Amino acid sequence: MNDNHGHMREGFTTTLGVLAATLGSAVGLGNIWKFPSMTGQNGGAAFVFVYLLCVLLIGLPVMISEFIIGRRAQANNVGAFRKLETAGRAPWHLTGVAGVAAAFLIMFFYTGVAGWVYAYAFKALTGAFSGVTAAETADIFSTYIGSAAGPLAWQWIVLVTVSAIIIAGVTKGIERMTKTLLPILFVLLLICNIRALTLPGAGAGVEYLFRPDFTKVTAPVVLAALGLAFFKLSVGMGTMTTYGSYIGRRENLPSNALKVAFADTLVSLLAGLAIFPAVFAFGFEPDAGPSLLFITIPAVFQTMPLGQLFLTMFFVLAAIAATGAMISLLEVPVAYLTEEHGWSRVKATLLSAAAMGTVGALATLSTSVLSETLVFGRTFFDLFDFLSSNIVLPVGGILICLFVGWKLGPKAIADEASNGGSIRNAAVLRVFTFVVRYVAPVAILLVLLNGLGVIKA
Ligand code: TRP
Repeated sequence: MNDNHGHMREGFTTTLGVLAATLGSAVGLGNIWKFPSMTGQNGGAAFVFVYLLCVLLIGLPVMISEFIIGRRAQANNVGAFRKLETAGRAPWHLTGVAGVAAAFLIMFFYTGVAGWVYAYAFKALTGAFSGVTAAETADIFSTYIGSAAGPLAWQWIVLVTVSAIIIAGVTKGIERMTKTLLPILFVLLLICNIRALTLPGAGAGVEYLFRPDFTKVTAPVVLAALGLAFFKLSVGMGTMTTYGSYIGRRENLPSNALKVAFADTLVSLLAGLAIFPAVFAFGFEPDAGPSLLFITIPAVFQTMPLGQLFLTMFFVLAAIAATGAMISLLEVPVAYLTEEHGWSRVKATLLSAAAMGTVGALATLSTSVLSETLVFGRTFFDLFDFLSSNIVLPVGGILICLFVGWKLGPKAIADEASNGGSIRNAAVLRVFTFVVRYVAPVAILLVLLNGLGVIKA
């Protein structure tokens, strides 16, 4: 298949490669950093319950929708809508344009946090945590993010790394990298779980994660859970549309989406089971927010033999997970710029990354020199984070569902998601079609308007 400019389109080569790349996009800082910190800030198990509902009812259908759009069109996020909107009067491709912009918005802060993770891998390796007490790990983190030069430098190191993989290409870069590294992450998380769960007092953490108190569920909490579901599954802006365009005709789209949603959720729960037992065992507060990971994990590993080795491995793997997610974010503008504007892959990658690093500095400096600079009452970091997860991704999700449910319609859905009838999943597809036409758009809209305080239910 050729793109608009006559280049051969690359793609993922095997079923396992498809799973690795799409799961590699989903698994990232969202699981090990955002999920635990948001669970802690929103009261624990009840938030987890609402989150799981959002994944199943909304996140999963949006992911299948994006796969359908991407694979059917065989094009980048803007080109895909253009090709499929046929009659061409309704400007659906603006959804694609907004998605490309959203990739930048997310990368502005994501690369900064990934920089903290890279820095922590390096600190752990060089022994910065040997012999420190649990309380000292908190000081080390606040001192680190309170400085400007280190975090900025690491953000650029992150961007260079991600760019190098993207320049290597879809098959040799994205697919190969994710396939080797995901299994290692999984094993390491399990080791963390065993250590955290055998700490004295660990039970309180497990209870916090699994015994719900529904009085804590308010409208903004539901919106936060929905936003996290979008962010976690990499949906609502066109990452999975772009990756979908690299998926072969014989692959089973709904089944791959289900596997990604399941495995991704498992990784989040495992991360929670590594972090919350430690929070309670060491007497930290669960609502510490973004710093939670960086304080508890070093504290956990300090208590065990070979702690420095395991701590280094943990942050190296967290860095890898973050990198797999970031390549999927950077691929969105790169696919767009190369296919729609004829830029070379190298030029598209480097200019996009440079823009991400330049504006992204505002987010990174939000914990130091710009900590007092507020826009709409938030630091740049919080603003980029809030806007992307709580507004841009849900709105994108509504449009994607409506496009697939109404514009493409039941026939095209049935054709694309059953590979022309060769997969016997007609009943599943009927439910899916109903969900993307009615249930998901209405549910997202209600949660959005309630969470933003526009309506009160
Ligand atoms: N899902 C990734 C994570 O949890 C982040 C991510 C990658 C993402 N691509 C995305 C978030 C697209 C939203 C949209 O770390």
